[in-house]
Amino acid sequence: MSSNIYSVAAKARQSRPIDPSEPFDVSSVKGKTILITGGGSGFGAAFFRKWAAAGANVIIGDVDDSKGESIVRAVRIATDNNNHHFIHCDVTDWQSQVSFFKAATKLSPHGGIDAVVANAGISDLNPTFNTPKNLDMDEPPKPNMQVIDVNLVGVLYTTHLALFYLPRNPGSQPVDPNKRLGGADQSSRDRHLLLIGSLASLCPIPHQTLYGTAKHGVMGLFRSLRCTAFTSGVRVNLICPYFVETPIINGPGRAVLAGANLAKIEDVVEAASRLMSDTSINGRSLVVGPPLKLVETEEGEWQYSGRDQNGISTEVSLWEVHADDLENTDVFIRRIVHLMNAAHEMNGWLKWTKDLGRALLIMVEDTTRISYWRRRN
Ligand SMILES: NC(=O)c1ccc[n+]([C@@H]2O[C@H](COP(=O)([O-])OP(=O)(O)OC[C@H]3O[C@@H](n4cnc5c(N)ncnc54)[C@H](O)[C@@H]3O)[C@@H](O)[C@H]2O)c1
Repeated sequence: MSSNIYSVAAKARQSRPIDPSEPFDVSSVKGKTILITGGGSGFGAAFFRKWAAAGANVIIGDVDDSKGESIVRAVRIATDNNNHHFIHCDVTDWQSQVSFFKAATKLSPHGGIDAVVANAGISDLNPTFNTPKNLDMDEPPKPNMQVIDVNLVGVLYTTHLALFYLPRNPGSQPVDPNKRLGGADQSSRDRHLLLIGSLASLCPIPHQTLYGTAKHGVMGLFRSLRCTAFTSGVRVNLICPYFVETPIINGPGRAVLAGANLAKIEDVVEAASRLMSDTSINGRSLVVGPPLKLVETEEGEWQYSGRDQNGISTEVSLWEVHADDLENTDVFIRRIVHLMNAAHEMNGWLKWTKDLGRALLIMVEDTTRISYWRRRN
């Protein structure tokens, strides 16, 4: 991490790049209360099983009641722990998510929420953003925005609620990349928001226009929050999986992917578990790709070898993205902040007083306008 006083990375308390060969201890989730949206299937269900087995209390929200209830029944039996719960939750509905978080705090054995995974998602079944075939229509049909509602608005609602409920956690401590919190030492609790992006957060997937738009939005959310969420003591990390065989991949998707190497759900769980259990990791994003046998060249580049070459190739499935981009914002920040401070000093107190006066006037006008609008409606 940069020691430069203008470094955003240092100020944002972003942790150092992740070394996937370093061990981590998933048992540090023991006793934590973890909320997962879309926990009834695929990744959410796999996270649930893994973290519940390691001693966490997991509360899942999903629109699919039968899948949600059945996995909770199975995991309660497998872990001999009745602190796992299913709550019906439609992430597109603000009030439904509020009820999910409120009920979860009541059900949590310690009355708080330690970690939230914004996982619920759907794919673009009906890519209405492609040019309509029939251009003779008077006007095009209204596009179906469900993918944006679930994969972006839903994630924003989850994030908004997480940033409210996580800091209310009893005994929470501010994020500190030099310290590991929680685990056996329950006097200092960790707070973690894990966002689920996709390869579509990084590059376009043809015919998945809205999916790509939503997942780019999740990346934007992550990149913005990693600079600020630490102020409320919340760690924010992201995983961006490549295609993995789960129910989200529909028939045509499977046909397009035929013959391709897919990523493995075990690697997605591994990446998420590392971010969840190593409480020093903050502001990092991991791409989970298919396991590839690679050889490192003398220039430090990876080259695909396809097979083990006399034991010198390494199998890689985790890649870190946006690892150091906060370091690169230094130049911009240094220039802009310096220039703005210099301009500010030259303006002196007179301009400050005049601007503040104008701001107060606008605030009064806004309040009057809002109360007039409320009276009329
Ligand atoms: N499988 C992949 O290839 C892949 C790759 C990259 C990212 N992802 C992302 O991973 C996340 C999980 O996907 P998955 O592969 O496990 O799919 P999945 O279909 O197995 O699981 C998604 C879950 O979300 C639930 N859900 C859908 N709409 C919801 C809503 N409105 N409110 C609450 N829950 C809702 C579903 O009922 C389901 O249980 C998604 O965000 C997805 O975009 C998946």
